[in-house]
Amino acid sequence: MILVFGGNGQLGQELTRFAAARDLPMHALPHGEADIADSSVVAAALARWKPELLVNAAAYTKVDLAETNIEEARKGNDIGPGVLASACAAVGIPMVHVSTDYVFDGSKPEPYRETDPVCPISVYGRSKVAGEEAVRGRLKHHVILRTAWVYSEYGHNFLKTILRLAETRDELPIVADQHGSPTSAREVAEAILHLAPLLMRDQKLSGTYHFTADGFTTWHGFASRVVEIAAPMTGGNPRVIPIATADYPTAAKRPANSRLDCRLFVEKFGFSPRHWTESVDATTRTLVAAKKRMPSHVA
Ligand SMILES: NC(=O)c1ccc[n+]([C@@H]2O[C@H](COP(=O)([O-])OP(=O)(O)OC[C@H]3O[C@@H](n4cnc5c(N)ncnc54)[C@H](OP(=O)(O)O)[C@@H]3O)[C@@H](O)[C@H]2O)c1
Repeated sequence: MILVFGGNGQLGQELTRFAAARDLPMHALPHGEADIADSSVVAAALARWKPELLVNAAAYTKVDLAETNIEEARKGNDIGPGVLASACAAVGIPMVHVSTDYVFDGSKPEPYRETDPVCPISVYGRSKVAGEEAVRGRLKHHVILRTAWVYSEYGHNFLKTILRLAETRDELPIVADQHGSPTSAREVAEAILHLAPLLMRDQKLSGTYHFTADGFTTWHGFASRVVEIAAPMTGGNPRVIPIATADYPTAAKRPANSRLDCRLFVEKFGFSPRHWTESVDATTRTLVAAKKRMPSHVA
């Protein structure tokens, strides 16, 4: 069985949903039941569930707040992954740990390869780099999967924000000079559950991999696609206006280039991501349809 930490997050919920649909034995622990930085809680969970593989879907993902909540970010992204890796090493099981494009500074003109040196430009990015190092240092049998621009039907994310704003605004100014691949948490979950049995069988597959949806766009391109798909169903059709990062100041700096080269993952695990528009379109349609079914006082 697979034990998941961070069960209430976007990825945690998609892992649970995907495993249930495939009848795969999995148990997911939400933050409220298990803090990954608490070694006694983690050890007790492993003793109770006796997993064959652990997936760390937990993280402190509030990128701007991390600039001031440095200790919280450290707990979720650095200390926690280290605790999990040590616990896995103690019982002899592999771990899949999820990381981010924000380990890079975004200055490379091409998509990033796994061998490119990291150079984070935010507290969040630095804490994720430290977490990667903790996992590599404590557990040989692991996969670190870096992804980017994650959205889902759950939690807070860019796609849901755009859908909400599109209902009431005539114009949406959106950053058009940061490049990446909008990636559905569902597809990351699918990739993890695809690699899990392969990693369990073959320790030589251990290492760091990039996995995002196929193709690239900007936040402006992402928002435009959501509006285009939602408009015929909602009637809300704001003008999406391209702006520069400099015109949208945030507490944390973000890389201009978040594009990840995923060829190594495809080659080693035989799993190819779909084009980013496929899942963006499907998720947008699902969310709009769900909202329409809800009585207005609930929505
Ligand atoms: N979201 C993105 O755009 C994005 C992009 C690139 C990479 N990633 C990576 O993808 C992975 C999954 O992200 P996601 O989007 O699913 O994040 P998410 O929705 O924010 O979920 C993260 C979960 O981790 C929990 N958590 C935080 N600190 C914890 C701790 N110390 N112990 C246990 N649980 C803790 C959170 O609980 P609370 O809500 O209670 O704090 C939350 O349920 C993360 O590793 C993230 O860094 C995400």
